[in-house]
Amino acid sequence: MKALRVERLSGDLSGVTLADIPEPGRKPGEVLVRVRAASLNFPDLLMTRGEYQFKPEPPFTSGLECAGEVIEADSGSGFAPGDRVMGGNKTGAFAEIACIPARGLAPVPEGFSFAQGAAMGAAYATAYTGLVELCGVKEGQWVLVHGASGGVGLAACDLAKAMGARVIAATGVEAKREAIAARAKPDHVILASGRFREAVSQITGGALADIVFDPVGGDVFDESTRCVAFGGKLVVVGFTSGRIAEIATNIPLIKGFSIVGLRAGEYARRFPERGAAINAAVRELAEAGRISPAIDRVLPLENWREGFEAMARRELVGKVVFEP
Ligand SMILES: NC(=O)c1ccc[n+]([C@@H]2O[C@H](COP(=O)([O-])OP(=O)(O)OC[C@H]3O[C@@H](n4cnc5c(N)ncnc54)[C@H](OP(=O)(O)O)[C@@H]3O)[C@@H](O)[C@H]2O)c1
Repeated sequence: MKALRVERLSGDLSGVTLADIPEPGRKPGEVLVRVRAASLNFPDLLMTRGEYQFKPEPPFTSGLECAGEVIEADSGSGFAPGDRVMGGNKTGAFAEIACIPARGLAPVPEGFSFAQGAAMGAAYATAYTGLVELCGVKEGQWVLVHGASGGVGLAACDLAKAMGARVIAATGVEAKREAIAARAKPDHVILASGRFREAVSQITGGALADIVFDPVGGDVFDESTRCVAFGGKLVVVGFTSGRIAEIATNIPLIKGFSIVGLRAGEYARRFPERGAAINAAVRELAEAGRISPAIDRVLPLENWREGFEAMARRELVGKVVFEP
């Protein structure tokens, strides 16, 4: 079968290649899935460089998540051949056939295409775990979302709007503002470069943000500590800026806000019942037509490089989906 292999770690994708490899063998507890669509996540890019917290040893098949049809599953697993499923297992999704633990799979929401299913899973589970599960977002609250053009950022904007919050989408790229406004329909879009506290203060009438959702880190995190309301929450989601910020602990004390560490995948593994409830809640919102992932482009898997490079160059507004 065709699979996107990371043969060796490299900073320029030179260690990545589309190869023919044997189909994976299924072990008990796993489900064999014919992949119809797979979406690119920032960790996929980091794993080609060995820069993600999970460091698989090359060679490995890239791809965090996909959607497709069940080929084979254990009886009693809840899955049967032909079921439309989505999910993943950190690697292995960018291939014609993937082998995924049953606990890592969920049904594709009714009415969703495979591309939408593949684009939804990790981004919306992350957004839901951060905003709803850990921060208890409420109607009318101000939510500031950084990296708003990204998969996770757009999902957070979409979900926060669905929960009745007022959303300020923040991007570091002026040229993306219009596309973010069109795709995420936030209440405001701001440019998160330099001193953006004034913009947040002006929009919120001085109240500042009840929740700041930050997949970017670095300077954006530093300035965000000035944008959180008293009693608010600053959610650490990731470090796409490349710098892990540091903070003096007197700042959250004096300003009365909490810093919340988000690890959505690990949260679901440690608390499987909560993970299942999160997936069910996301699915329910999707089937009710209240949320839907923004897709920047769908590419044949042969054109994997275009997708990876566009993500590395920060050109995307929404998810890249590969079809094997
Ligand atoms: N904590 C968790 O549980 C969890 C789960 C999933 C993902 N994540 C993390 O969330 C982050 C976002 O993932 P994603 O899949 O949404 O990635 P993505 O689609 O590539 O989006 C990342 C966004 O970050 C912004 N950005 C700021 N500086 C950047 C830079 N130097 N290079 C590239 N992008 C930069 C860009 O938005 P603008 O151009 O609009 O500013 C970009 O669209 C990653 O760090 C990932 O590891 C965390």
